[in-house]
Amino acid sequence: MVGPLGSPTHIDNFGHVVCVCGGVGIAPMHPIVQALKAAGNKVTIIMGARNESLFLMKEEMTALADNIIFMTDDGSYGRKGLVTEPLKELCEDTKGKPDMVIAIGPPIMMKFCALTTKPYAVKTVVSLNSIMVDGTGMCGGCRVTIGGKTKFVCVDGPEFDGHEVDWNNMLQRMGAFKPQEQEAMHRFGANDGHKCNIDKMADAKAKESK
Ligand code: FES
Repeated sequence: MVGPLGSPTHIDNFGHVVCVCGGVGIAPMHPIVQALKAAGNKVTIIMGARNESLFLMKEEMTALADNIIFMTDDGSYGRKGLVTEPLKELCEDTKGKPDMVIAIGPPIMMKFCALTTKPYAVKTVVSLNSIMVDGTGMCGGCRVTIGGKTKFVCVDGPEFDGHEVDWNNMLQRMGAFKPQEQEAMHRFGANDGHKCNIDKMADAKAKESK
């Protein structure tokens, strides 16, 4: 194990901070919320998941937040809908408008959080950790474009200004190995005698060599 890697989260007394998190992004958000609270911020958390069973740390996050909003795709817990809906409502609320937003979760979620806050000029920090591979600055897998400049997530980040991220470039790069990833997942799950293409190719080669 190596670490800590990259740059630490910038913590200050910003005022009202809205922390938007989904999936495994909930876990790294927990210590950030703790630090924000210790620095005197008012923290609203918006947590999203496909359904109730996929929420991590519900009780822990509820205990920390001044206000917490749960969103599920299927309406099984909290409100039905996307995390960007309450985020937009808060940005439009003259009394509750955030001074800062931090979003950690699936890249598509972070992209749309940044697009939601941009018209309201609310600073939005996103964590691009999902594009990292080795985390040491050597593989180049985490290269992203921020404000027109090339950055390495594991060295220069993982947190960046969400309004500066070239999301299309990042999402395209993340999808570059999708067929191979699907194949690997298929192999991982192929324990019922069902053979994936790689196994079939290995079988064919073995047959040839007989
Ligand atoms: S993850 Fe490999 S260089 Fe950053």
